[in-house]
Amino acid sequence: MKILIKNIKQLVQVEENPQLKIVGKDMKNLPCINDAWLAIEDDKIAGFGKMEDWEGISDWTDLKIIDASDKIVMPSYCDSHTHIVYAGSRESEFVDRINGLTYEEIFERGGGILNSAKKMNEATEDELIESALKRLYEITLQGTGAVEIKSGYGLSFESELKMLRVIKKLKGLTPLTIKATFLGAHAVPEEYKKNKRKYIDLIINEMMPIIAEEKLADYCDVFCEQNYFTKEETIEILTAGKKYGMVPKVHAEQLSNSGGVLAGVEVGAISVDHLEFVGNKEIEALKNSDTMPTILPGAAFFLSLPSPPARKMIDAGLPIAVASDFNPGSSPSGNMNFAISICCIQYQLTPEEAINAATINSAYAMDLSKTHGSIAIGKQANVFITKEIPSYAFIPYSFGSNLIETVIINGKLIK
Ligand code: NIG
Ligand code: FE
Repeated sequence: MKILIKNIKQLVQVEENPQLKIVGKDMKNLPCINDAWLAIEDDKIAGFGKMEDWEGISDWTDLKIIDASDKIVMPSYCDSHTHIVYAGSRESEFVDRINGLTYEEIFERGGGILNSAKKMNEATEDELIESALKRLYEITLQGTGAVEIKSGYGLSFESELKMLRVIKKLKGLTPLTIKATFLGAHAVPEEYKKNKRKYIDLIINEMMPIIAEEKLADYCDVFCEQNYFTKEETIEILTAGKKYGMVPKVHAEQLSNSGGVLAGVEVGAISVDHLEFVGNKEIEALKNSDTMPTILPGAAFFLSLPSPPARKMIDAGLPIAVASDFNPGSSPSGNMNFAISICCIQYQLTPEEAINAATINSAYAMDLSKTHGSIAIGKQANVFITKEIPSYAFIPYSFGSNLIETVIINGKLIK
């Protein structure tokens, strides 16, 4: 099957020489072609250029032509941090917070992640697959083409494995590219409260071997935070994960400055995520690393946290990725359009920086930037076409609107 998209008002983020990530002041560049065409063959991008240079097509069989006059074409978003497999919802805690409780207080009462763990324990694999597929379809229509999904609401041997097996099955049930992350160290379960050591041993000695054997996870993640896991525990767990072939990631500096970034850099994490409480020390450490600093504006917005110093990090020469953190407790939305709006409105990122963060840099944060995250020949044909809009900056500007009209994933029309 071939698709030709012609008369594109603006083809966004084209790359002649594909980069793995876009760093520092280069994030302000977003190469575009005005009045463009884009050709897709099977599941790959086959060519692009200016309409005036278009030489026609030699083989017209099995070709679908889409006219994108007055519309923008963009590479699909890559969402490198989600907890999209979960049971039930937590809007009652949302109301508790409106009435004055903090996120930490709710956790201390056995709510928060522990509340989701109780619900996870009772859910069947089929129920989890059904609800996750609905969310995956929702984010597909919102422009996402690749997504990372974490475990971490299981918090027991059986439940963590159940989550990871569900994630593995989802890979065959959606056209989205999926990467899996083992987040057994998301919280200390109630029954191990007085013996955290025992839970860490369970993670390392019982869960990791079977996860490696069944090839259930690409990444290993830890919530490094007061009342969750310390910097030292984070390093220990991630180092063990590496021995089982899992690349480290960290939930870092979300609620306080607790050492997650330094732990992540030390173990060679592919990304450190959240970063609301990052300071100069962390910025310096990140400068000498290959770790992608990743911000999760949906969670900061939903929990009314301070803004991560994204502007400062880019000005210091760092790359930034943005992801949704789609989960029931701190970001019940996977809408990457909204995430880039927050980057622009609250964090002073330009639309170019926010789009680079949500595409190529977020692809880097899940080791997909060779195949995803920009318009380049040979990359996966994951693109979306907007409604009629004046420019790409109109997307973050129109926060809350859905401006996406057509979605193509792996060269197939989804919508
Ligand atoms: O990324 N911070 C830790 N984990 C999730 C929230 C989990 C929850 O509240 O269910 C996050 O924000
Ligand atoms: Fe998270």
